[in-house]
Amino acid sequence: MIAKHVKNMPPSGIREFFDLVLGMPDVISLGVGEPDFIAPWRVREKAITALEEGLTSYTSNKGLLLLRESISDYLKKEYKINYNPDSQILITVGVSEGLDLSLRAILDPRDKVIVVSPYYVAYPALVELNQGKVLMLETKEENNFKIEPEKLSLLLKHNPKAIILNYPSNPSGATYTSSELKKIWNILSKKDITIISDETYDQLSYGQKHISFPSLARQAKKQTILLNGFSKGHAMTGFRVGFTCAEPEVTEAMTKIHSYSVMCGPVISQVAAIEALRAKKEVERMKSEYIKRRDFLVEELNQLGFSVSLPQGAFYCFACLKKFKLNCLDFAKKLLLDEKVAVVPGVAFGKKYQDYIRISYANSLDKLKEAVIRIERFVSGL
Ligand SMILES: Cc1ncc(COP(=O)(O)O)c(C=O)c1O
Repeated sequence: MIAKHVKNMPPSGIREFFDLVLGMPDVISLGVGEPDFIAPWRVREKAITALEEGLTSYTSNKGLLLLRESISDYLKKEYKINYNPDSQILITVGVSEGLDLSLRAILDPRDKVIVVSPYYVAYPALVELNQGKVLMLETKEENNFKIEPEKLSLLLKHNPKAIILNYPSNPSGATYTSSELKKIWNILSKKDITIISDETYDQLSYGQKHISFPSLARQAKKQTILLNGFSKGHAMTGFRVGFTCAEPEVTEAMTKIHSYSVMCGPVISQVAAIEALRAKKEVERMKSEYIKRRDFLVEELNQLGFSVSLPQGAFYCFACLKKFKLNCLDFAKKLLLDEKVAVVPGVAFGKKYQDYIRISYANSLDKLKEAVIRIERFVSGL
């Protein structure tokens, strides 16, 4: 009954591994990519009030105009980019839907898409689901998991239709300075290529202010589909609300697919998202907590013999475990069974990353401290 391209698709490495965790008591999970914070109260309160007022219907396919206007204002203020709320912004069911829509809207069968690895697990899967072909652009720890311009130039010779960028990155935490981004844009600008820029973690950029890809140049904005949402920075994963920004023609194509497949994003979540854009202080508070946790975890892991550079954003460490002479799958499985700490094996993010694990610090400092004690016991017994 199942289509061949779906049947051939491997399940997410993360989910597969976390099926093991289910049902195990007393596990400290440093695996899932989700804030441990609850969405700010003012956001939840708006959602409750909306429900009490009986807001239970569909919205327009594009999403509530007030939310689109608020997003347009936010992007103008934050990054000096102008998107028309009526023709260039679409409210989606999380960034996940925005990602799927952008690929569905632009790919013809066998079109090539550059995916930068280590990658967010959905990228290659969604490219393949949309009958595209992945061109893998591998990055290395010695370059802080950043794109090497020469490698990018080489891949462009295959005439890809699109490239998916993600910074700050899940899983490496890498992000880019203005001059690094300009170099990348310089190379891309010579090609007729669509840039899908997943900036889900823009609010969680630590060393520097995030630079949004479409803000680099007028033409960069034209070629980019910007994806963002409220799941990570605002701790609103369960609300399922995101957005896309693109040229009117692209937005119209995505809206067409979206109106047939999901109709519109959930109305309560859209109301909550309008309030989330006003919750700057709350976002800053969460961000400063992440920084404390990151600093603690990176220092401890390096002392234990892992090699981890300081992640510049998001809430993950991509730690090298070469020293322990176990591949990531064995390491993660054994760590889970022996010490009940769950981390994600690096191969979930690209086959070259057998010597890495992803550790999320979206967990309280107390839990991280306990996890470090357990990891120390584990590695000292190897
Ligand atoms: C890089 C990246 N993009 C997109 C998503 C999906 O986020 P959403 O909850 O908005 O669908 C995630 C979630 O982990 C992510 O890490």
